[in-house]
Amino acid sequence: MKNKFILAIETSCDETAMSLVRFVENKNGWEIDILSNVVASQIDIHKKWGGVYPELASRAHLEAMIPVLEEALEPLNELRITNNELRMGLESIHNSPFKILDSISAVAVTQGPGLIGSLLMGIETAQVISAIYNKPIVPVNHLEGHVYSAFAEYKGKGQRVKVKNSKFEIPKRGIFPVLSLVVSGGHTSLILMEDHLKYKTVGQTIDDAAGEAFDKVARILDLGYPGGPAIEKLAKTGNENVYDLPVALKNSLDFSFSGLKTAALYLTKDPRTQKKLKYNRADLAASFQKAVVDALILKTQKAISKYNPKTVILSGGVSANGYLRERFVRQLSARRAEPSGRRPQPPVILIPPVALSTDNAVGIAIASALKFSKNQTIPWKDIDALPNFPIDF
Ligand code: KG4
Ligand code: ZN
Repeated sequence: MKNKFILAIETSCDETAMSLVRFVENKNGWEIDILSNVVASQIDIHKKWGGVYPELASRAHLEAMIPVLEEALEPLNELRITNNELRMGLESIHNSPFKILDSISAVAVTQGPGLIGSLLMGIETAQVISAIYNKPIVPVNHLEGHVYSAFAEYKGKGQRVKVKNSKFEIPKRGIFPVLSLVVSGGHTSLILMEDHLKYKTVGQTIDDAAGEAFDKVARILDLGYPGGPAIEKLAKTGNENVYDLPVALKNSLDFSFSGLKTAALYLTKDPRTQKKLKYNRADLAASFQKAVVDALILKTQKAISKYNPKTVILSGGVSANGYLRERFVRQLSARRAEPSGRRPQPPVILIPPVALSTDNAVGIAIASALKFSKNQTIPWKDIDALPNFPIDF
C-alpha cells in the first residue's frame, strides 16, 4: 500500500498548531510517522488578562497561520527533492512552498469544541486548501485529538518515542476496551471506546474542568496564567497534607471541581468579612493539587472496575502535570482485588509525551489518518465550526 500524507490544523483555543503525518494502513493497523509538529503558543498575549481573550486569540491565529503552515510543510518539501513519488512537475510552477499541498491526501481540522472565532480560523484555512488543491476535509473533534495524542507513545509497554520524526503503529485490535481520561482547561471526561473512533462519555464534570480549577486557584494565589504549571511548581515546595480539601461526588463517575475552588478561596479570606486569612501558599497549592488528583484517580479506578478496559489513556493539558502522571501510573498499574477474589491484569497505560499533553495538532493528525481510512471526510462547503461539539454525538 502507498504512503499517504495528511496536513492537520488545530486552532480551537490559543495555540495555532499544525502537523504533517505520513501513514499507511495494513492488515493489523496503521503505521504512522509524524513528520512535523508545529505549535505557535499565544501564552504571552493572554498572560496579562489572566486567561484566554477570545478576540485576541482569533487575531493571533490569523497572524501565525501562514508561517506555521510553511514550517509544517517543510518535511514534505524536503521529501520532494529526494522522492520521485512527489515530483509532480513542480519545476514548472513558481517556487511556492505551498504547491507541495498537491501531494497530500486530505486536510484535517478541528471542528470543535472550542472558541468559535478560533475554530473558524483553522476551518477557513482548511477550506481554502481543500478548495484550491481539491482535497477532502477530515473533521476531527478536539477531544479525539487529545485521546489519539497518547498513541504517539504506543510502541508497547514502557517505550517512549520522539514527537517529531517518530514512527509507531496503532493496532486495530487487541487494545479495546480503551478508557480515556481527558483532563484539560475545558474538559474533564472519562471516555470509553469499544473500537477506534467510537466514543461513549461515561463520566464528565458537572461544573468546572480540572484545568479551569487549576487556573482559578492559581489566580487566587496570584500565580498568573496558565495556572497548572505554576501550581505544580509551587506545590513541589509545599506539604499536601496541611489542608483537607474535599473530593466531590465520590460515588459517581462524574466530577465536580467548583466546590474545591471555593474551599481554596475560603482558606485565603473569610467569606463573610472578606478579611484576608493567614495561609501558606505552597501548602495550599500542594493540598489543592492532591485533591484534584485524588478525584481524577478515584473516578478512573471506579470506571476501570466497571468497564475492565485493556488500555487506559491519560491526556489533555492537565496530564502534563508530573505529580498526576506519577500517581496515575503507580496507582492504576497496581493489581486490584475484586470482591470475588479475582485479580485481573492491570490495564496498559498510555500517556502522551508532555509536549503532546497540551493542545497540538499531532493528535488531530493521528485521528484523521484513521478517519480518512474509513472515508470519514467531507467536502469543504459542508464544514461548520461546532463550539459545543460532543465527542459521542
Ligand atoms: O488541553 P489544553 O492545552 O487546552 C484545552 O483543551 O483546554 O489544556 C490547558 C489546561 C490549562 O487549564 C492549564 O492550566 C492546564 O491544562 N495545565 C496543567 C499543567 N499544564 C497545563 N495543569 C496542571 N499541571 C500542569 N503541569
Ligand atoms: Zn485541549
